[in-house]
Amino acid sequence: MTASRRMSALWLIGVISCLLSPVLAQTFTSCNPMKKDDCPSHPALGTNYTTDFSGSLNDVIWNSTSTPVSFDEKGGNFVIAQKLESPTLISKFYIFFGRIEVHMKAATGKGVVSAITIQSETLDEIDWEWIGSDTENVQSNYFGKGDGNPSDGGVFHKMDENPMEDIHNYTLNWTKEKIEWYIDTKKVRTVSYDQADGGKKYPQTPSTVRLGVWPAGDKDENEKGTIEWAGGEIDYHKGPYRMIVEELKVTDFSSGKEYKYKDKSGSWESIEVIKYD
Ligand SMILES: *[C@@H]1O[C@H](CO)[C@@H](O)[C@H](O)[C@H]1NC(C)=O
Ligand SMILES: *[C@@H]1O[C@H](CO)[C@@H](O)[C@H](O)[C@H]1NC(C)=O
Ligand SMILES: *[C@@H]1O[C@H](CO)[C@@H](O)[C@H](O)[C@H]1NC(C)=O
Ligand SMILES: *[C@@H]1O[C@H](CO)[C@@H](O)[C@H](O)[C@H]1NC(C)=O
Repeated sequence: MTASRRMSALWLIGVISCLLSPVLAQTFTSCNPMKKDDCPSHPALGTNYTTDFSGSLNDVIWNSTSTPVSFDEKGGNFVIAQKLESPTLISKFYIFFGRIEVHMKAATGKGVVSAITIQSETLDEIDWEWIGSDTENVQSNYFGKGDGNPSDGGVFHKMDENPMEDIHNYTLNWTKEKIEWYIDTKKVRTVSYDQADGGKKYPQTPSTVRLGVWPAGDKDENEKGTIEWAGGEIDYHKGPYRMIVEELKVTDFSSGKEYKYKDKSGSWESIEVIKYD
């Protein structure tokens, strides 16, 4: 599948939450530092964060959009039970290069897409995506400044076991030099800075971590191409569709209090790491 912005999970979640709630939509497209001078600095994680999603949502850490995520002994349950439900967590913290390890089970069902994403305010993005009707593959993808890399973009990775049946460990390792995707202990993909159009399309700005599941196959909200990509129209009667996240571990490779854009270039060199006093 050719990568395009249309196929980017979180962009579409943005569209969906935009339709549901104009308030949330603003947070989504809030302030693009490549277009505006006065965007606020972003709070840095600056350390490690680990959670097993038991108990309740830590709202110091997470913004929950659309439908709430529920928590039980299995972990965080991201469930689509009714039309246009799209439970998504977006971190309030930003990481400036880092490592994201997620132990999870994707949701089944055609038209249902589970996703782990990191995304910046300049629309740099790195993804894992599962299409609920494809019980054999996971897709990796990345976008620089909202623009897919035409020669590369989305790649399917065949899994040894069904990603909807068992918990697996999906790790992203994102540095200035390269992005690596790991399934359990196996590295399945590496993209270097140079490979991403000489760095122009390389994700390199402070990013939030996002976990969610969305009805990409809802015919009232999505384009035909998206529905096809998602495996067809979602049948809400066959749900509920459930993605389960058992554990999340995030490491910020930078340390500090805030990340600030010094200019509109969108390059990592333009990011100032503001330290604690
Ligand atoms: C944070 O996690 C990384 C790897 O995931 C580990 O190497 C490091 O020791 C951890 N740091 C702390 C302070 O726990
Ligand atoms: C979280 O959501 C609130 C309210 O919708 C918004 O004001 C805030 O900017 C969001 N924070 C982040 C880090 O996205
Ligand atoms: C991630 O990248 C860092 C820096 O290149 C490296 O030390 C580490 O081994 C990589 N792999 C994982 C799984 O963290
Ligand atoms: C998850 O996978 C990463 C990458 O292979 C590995 O570094 C890490 O140790 C794994 N975590 C566990 C708990 O096995």
